[in-house]
Amino acid sequence: MPILVTGGAGYIGSHTCVELLNAGYEIIVLDNLLNSKRESLNRISEITGKSFPFYKINLLNEGEIEQVFIENDIEAVIHFAGLKAVGESVRLPLRYYHNNITGTINLLNIMKKYDVNRLVFSSSATVYGMPEKVPISEEFPLKALNPYGRTKLMIEEILKDLFESDPNWSIALLRYFNPIGAHESGTIGEDPNGIPNNLMPFITQVAIGKMPELSVFGNDYQTADGTGVRDYIHVTDLAKGHLKALEKVASSQEIEAYNLGTGKGYSVLEMVEAFEVATGVPVPYKVVSPRPGDAAICFADASKAKRELQWTAEKSLRDMCEDSWRWQYNNPNGFDKNLIATGTGNPHLSKSGDFFNTKIE
Ligand code: NAD
Ligand code: UFG
Repeated sequence: MPILVTGGAGYIGSHTCVELLNAGYEIIVLDNLLNSKRESLNRISEITGKSFPFYKINLLNEGEIEQVFIENDIEAVIHFAGLKAVGESVRLPLRYYHNNITGTINLLNIMKKYDVNRLVFSSSATVYGMPEKVPISEEFPLKALNPYGRTKLMIEEILKDLFESDPNWSIALLRYFNPIGAHESGTIGEDPNGIPNNLMPFITQVAIGKMPELSVFGNDYQTADGTGVRDYIHVTDLAKGHLKALEKVASSQEIEAYNLGTGKGYSVLEMVEAFEVATGVPVPYKVVSPRPGDAAICFADASKAKRELQWTAEKSLRDMCEDSWRWQYNNPNGFDKNLIATGTGNPHLSKSGDFFNTKIE
């Protein structure tokens, strides 16, 4: 019986589809391609040598979701689909509440109707708000600081209420820390629209010459070098965590939250240095004002996932940097093949090209 992957064309979803197919699962992908490209699905097939059904469907359309459940005997759902840009959520809160919460409720209604009650949900470390100490464990108080974070927190609450009402459900709430990196093939990865909000896509775009320099948001935090510290996790490790969570929901009847992080924190300047060392490409930067709402330090206590899911992150920071760069270098315009590469102005590319000639295949 197949696993339904909502948002499977997106960044984390596509990497999880690869791991699911490689592990022998049958999958069905549902995505409206609002923040992703159809090409990512072709690449998943290229990597795995497997094909799978794709439904271009909006979760806001309950009737269309139902059609997927009528046509397929679904075993469990991994629910990635949602909007995720914090700044945009502050400007367009109703869009975020409607898309993320109504979309999830529609999905849950149909799952309930067709008696599919195994669910793995993409939550976020954002539900811890400004943590008072680190490492952050699952028992920490929950507090969201923006509409995006509140959609995650509200969906967690909805799922807890659903479980209370019907203990036949089994639900894993996966609280991701900072996913970066890309599949080691360099053929799928994060493809942000416009100017990236997040650190690693910004670093790779500076490295390839699309952006002149990185703005480091503040260097006066209470951290070793004054810049913000985060728990960066390779997206393939994160994807594998979903397979472990799937096994868990298949064999239990509970709702549990799990932190998916490495348990290690790196500062912005450490990330810049790690990237430069791993790739040989310099990343010019300047320090600017802190970004409002940013915590100084955020990293996971990931021991619960280790204990209960038998999952730990395995890839190194070097792997994360190399794989992020391989994806960016091979796909300067992301999945959009029709655009002409814009990265050729960077004098360091020939050096990094050599790096990849020796690295790939
Ligand atoms: P993404 O934007 O790459 O993928 C999300 C996918 O969902 C996209 O392909 C998009 O088209 C689809 N989608 C959105 N709304 C939809 C709708 N109404 N109907 C159908 N499809 C819809 O994002 P991602 O980075 O892969 O994140 C996946 C999930 O993980 C999201 O729920 C996100 O909030 C969560 N998350 C991401 C991060 C991160 O840093 N990337 C951190 C914590 C949590
Ligand atoms: N940073 C910069 N310059 C940039 C971008 C980021 O200095 O151009 C810094 C930030 O200040 C922070 C660190 O790099 O110290 C990481 O920032 P990201 O934007 O990459 O990640 P965040 O931890 O701020 O946010 C991420 C996701 C959110 C999610 C949050 C908690 O983007 O969606 O993790 O899970 F809510």
